[in-house]
Order: sequence, then structure tokens, then C-alpha cells
Amino acid sequence: MALDVEEIVARFERAVREHTPALAARDVLEELVADPAALERAVGTVTAGGIVPVHRADDLTILHVAWTPGMAINPHEHRMWAAIGMYGGQEDNSFYRRAAGGLEPSGGRELPAGDVLVLGDEVIHSVANSRREYAVALHVYGGDFFTVERSEWDPATHEERPRDLERTRRLFEEANTRWSARQK
Ligand SMILES: [Fe+2]
Repeated sequence: MALDVEEIVARFERAVREHTPALAARDVLEELVADPAALERAVGTVTAGGIVPVHRADDLTILHVAWTPGMAINPHEHRMWAAIGMYGGQEDNSFYRRAAGGLEPSGGRELPAGDVLVLGDEVIHSVANSRREYAVALHVYGGDFFTVERSEWDPATHEERPRDLERTRRLFEEANTRWSARQK
């Protein structure tokens, strides 16, 4: 049977019922990104950067994410575990710690296609796509990504503010406009 969205959701629904949901989700992601062609057929080919919800429940969110080339998203937290499975391109993660007056850098990790990264509840990260192709991934969260209150930080001043999904949507729009202008 060909892999489809229903099957992907079913696998993660089983994973979140396991004793260690984040690690079980990581295992599912590792299987999925090992066959990027099958995953792409299931979730669809990306033609623009954006975040497409695949599944949303109180204990599980699955997003199909494509970072546009040249795009950088500001530091933010999730307040729930997250697992990222890259199946095309690469995302560059930078990590931070809370510090007096904002944040301090705390290392980073390049995530090429085929890699899976698990982030604990407390992690603060920013993501950039420095390549000339979309960075495509499934992002899986141990809660409802869209309703939990959390913070983001100004990329320049590191000032903390409430997470603003509308601002994120505009970042995608601007990056997509820039990238499509460069393709002409
Ligand atoms: Fe994130």
C-alpha cells in the first residue's frame, strides 16, 4: 500500500500513546525521511514556502513545513516537545538560553535531508535556510501547536514578546516574493 497522509497520521497517533512519545515520533520520522520520494508523494510537492497543517489535535500537531531559500525565522520556543524530520534541503538551527535582558547563543545544528532532530519542551531555537532550494520537513509537536501560548524573541534585540503566527506568515510571504523574483 502506498504511503498516504492517513497512514502518516496513524503512525504518529500510535507514537504519542507510547511511553516516550517524542522518541517514538523520532523513530517514525526516521522511517519516513529514509524514503523521501514516498513522503513527497504522500504530502505533496512543495511549490512555495509555508506551513501546512497535516493534523491538529490537543496532544499532536503534524505540520508540513517548507522554508523558502534565504529565509530566517526568529528565536522562539514551543513549550512542548518537537521533532523535525528533514526530507529535502537543509535547515540551520541555532539554539539559545534565556539570559538577563534576553537570550544568549547556545550552539547550533545543521539539519540536512535524512536527519531527525528532537527538541525538548524548554528549547529555544531559530531556523534559517541558507541554501538555494526549499528546506522541506515534517514537524511533529506533542500538543496543539496553534493554541499554546509561548514566546518569540526579536532577532536583533533579543527582546521577548508573545509568539505571533501572523508575523511568521508575513515572513513566508516576503521570502516567497523575494525568491520568486530571483527565479525570473
Ligand atoms: Fe520551532
